[in-house]
Formats: sequence, C-alpha cells, structure tokens
Amino acid sequence: MSHLPRTRRSHTRMPLVAAARGESPSRRPVWFMRQAGRSLPEYRALRADHGMLESCFDADLVCEITLQPVRRHDVDAAILFSDIVVPLKAAGIGLDIVAGTGPVIESPVRTAGDVDALPRLDPAAVGAVSRAVAQILDQLDDTTALIGFAGAPFTLASYLIEGGPSRNYVQTKALMRGDPDTWHVLMARLADITITFLQVQLDAGVDAVQVFDSWAGALSVADYRTYVAPHIGRVFAEIAGYGVPRIHFGVGTGELLADMAAPADVIGVDWRVPLEEAVRRISGPKAVQGNLDPTVLFAGPTVLEREIRSLLADGQRALAAGAIGHIVNLGHGVLPDTDPDALTRAVELIHSL
Ligand code: CP3
Repeated sequence: MSHLPRTRRSHTRMPLVAAARGESPSRRPVWFMRQAGRSLPEYRALRADHGMLESCFDADLVCEITLQPVRRHDVDAAILFSDIVVPLKAAGIGLDIVAGTGPVIESPVRTAGDVDALPRLDPAAVGAVSRAVAQILDQLDDTTALIGFAGAPFTLASYLIEGGPSRNYVQTKALMRGDPDTWHVLMARLADITITFLQVQLDAGVDAVQVFDSWAGALSVADYRTYVAPHIGRVFAEIAGYGVPRIHFGVGTGELLADMAAPADVIGVDWRVPLEEAVRRISGPKAVQGNLDPTVLFAGPTVLEREIRSLLADGQRALAAGAIGHIVNLGHGVLPDTDPDALTRAVELIHSL
C-alpha cells in the first residue's frame, strides 16, 4: 500500500497501554467489548439508514460510531468499529452480516478446491479502515487508546466452513481432523488476511490490537495446539515489531489460557474463570483483561456495585499473583439490550475505586 506509516502517538499518558506494559496507570483502565453498538440510541439512529457492512466501509461512519461510546462513557479506549468478517468481505468473499444472526457466507468453504480459490486481501481494499483510523486519532485525546482488532484464523474458519454461526462446529472439526493438509492451508491463508488487516490498522496508528478467537473454546487443548496455535503464533509474531500491546481473547477458553496467553501481551479472560485463577494458569509477565459477566449490567445498581467491587478485588489478587496489569472489561461483549446508563455508571465507579 502506498501510504506511509503514521507517526505513532505518545503512549505515556494512556492508562490502558500502561497497564498492558506493567507500568503504573494514572487510573484503572476500563473499556467494553462491543461498547459501540445497539446498546446506544445514537448508534441505532445512525444505523437506521445504513447497513452494517456498508457502515464498516464508510470512514466517516466508522469514525463517528467508534467515538460514540468514548463520549458517552469516558472509557479509556475506543475500539475500532468494524467486524471480524470485514477483511473477508474486502478480499471478495461473498458474505453478509444479518441482524440477530451474525455473519452469513454465500458459499461455505469445504474442499481443497474451495480453499485454493480463496482470495487474498489487498490492503487497498480496506483503505476506508485506514482512513477511519487516521480520522479517529485526530479526535481522540492522548489518554484514550484506540484499539484495532481482527478475528483469529480459527474463528474466521468456523464462519467460512459452517456458512454462519454454529453451535457444535461439526463441519469445521470434520475438515480439521479429516483433511489436516487442507485445514492448515486454510488457516495459513486466513492468518495472512488477519496479519494484513492488523498491519493496515497498525500502520494507520492504532495504539493496541485485540485478536478475537471468540470460538476457540470449542477445542480441546490438544487440538488447539495441533490445529490452531502455529497459525495464531505467526499472527502475533508478525505484528510484534510494532511494539504495541497485543491482546488475545476468546470465550470459554479457561482450559486454553496458557496457550492463548503465550504469544500475547495481554490475555482476555471471560467471566467463567476468576482473574487470580487465570494468572495461575499462565506463565510469563502478562496483563489480564476482564471479566465482568455482561448480564450483571441488567441486575440494578446495587448488584452492579457489589460485582464491580468484587471484580476489582479479584484484579488486585491477580496482580499479587503475578499479573503485570489489569484492564477492566466484560467477559464478553455488551449485550444489545443493555441500559447504556449502567455502563456509564460502571465506568464512574471503576474510576472512583
Ligand atoms: O465495540 C466494539 O466492540 C467494536 C465493534 C465490533 C463488532 N464486531 C461490531 C458489530 C467488534 C469488535 C466485532 C467483532 C466480532 N464480530 C466478533 C468477535 C467478538 C465477539 O463477540 O466474540 C464476532 C464473533 C463477530 C461476528 C458477528 N458480527 C456477530 C456474532 C454479530 C452479532 C449478530 C447480531 O446481530 O446479534 C455481528 C454483527 C455486529 N458486529 C454488530 C456490531 C455492532 C451488530 C450489527 C447491528 O448493529 O445490526
């Protein structure tokens, strides 16, 4: 791509980056997965006239939607408004994002021929994302980090192979175990797309990245090591040179935490495993991110305050057990019906304690 890498912003005043690096943040950093989206009336108003994918390829809309939760909640990070299937769409794969369902693939990928025919991602095809990052950075103050992201090869493969969301990943695992050669070619091709998409965002100046392997928790540790870890290892290694925090997150990944943390700087933990326990399962100097159950936001202010206090205490124990930092987040994304005021209240409380 022809554009020159942007000069990276100063990170010295960003609590999120400080926590990820094991430095002392000026306040406890908090952001929420899916903080941009249907919980916000201003998001629903904007989206009324624009499709999901259309919005993701419109730099002005991406910028505005990314900044909405920052203005409203005073979170310590913006997360780029995009989707894990955006680079697949940009590469030319026929797909849509269907409200209430998720990504739907026109022609599922099932054979060696299908894999061979997969297009590659030309960075110019996600130029709108690059322009959006530049616009967002112009508007963010120097304490708020912009997090870029991409889907991990396994989670992307699961959508491509199943053709949409799945409960049991039957076809995905059938290909994985039944034709490992084709599987590894597919994973390598998806890793290339993930790397290119992350590099585009990093070249444009994002302050951190999160790799979502949302559905990796469907795998045993043994299968994860054989079929996934080499590819994800390459993704993290290829972006290490940028020197920005690299966060790795999945759902139901308690048994995979050691393997998922290994290539990353920050390990995202879902709500099933206490942060202190997560630290005991991993090795090396890592920060932890998480892990309030998103349904706690529906339980009223008294329960919310109790659960936040309990999370922050768990975070302190995680630090005592060896974590180098704690970034507060939910254990998975904000649910669409969440009252946005509960999120604002949660941020205020987390910053005040
Ligand atoms: O605020 C943020 O976190 C940034 C935006 C973001 C979206 N998708 C926007 C979105 C991020 C980080 C994602 C990643 C993503 N997309 C993941 C990984 C994160 C996770 O949840 O585990 C996955 C698995 C997807 C695939 C996907 N896209 C799903 C499952 C859905 C939900 C379908 C639905 O309608 O319930 C989408 C659509 C989507 N992506 C929406 C948003 C705001 C909702 C679309 C809408 O507003 O109509």
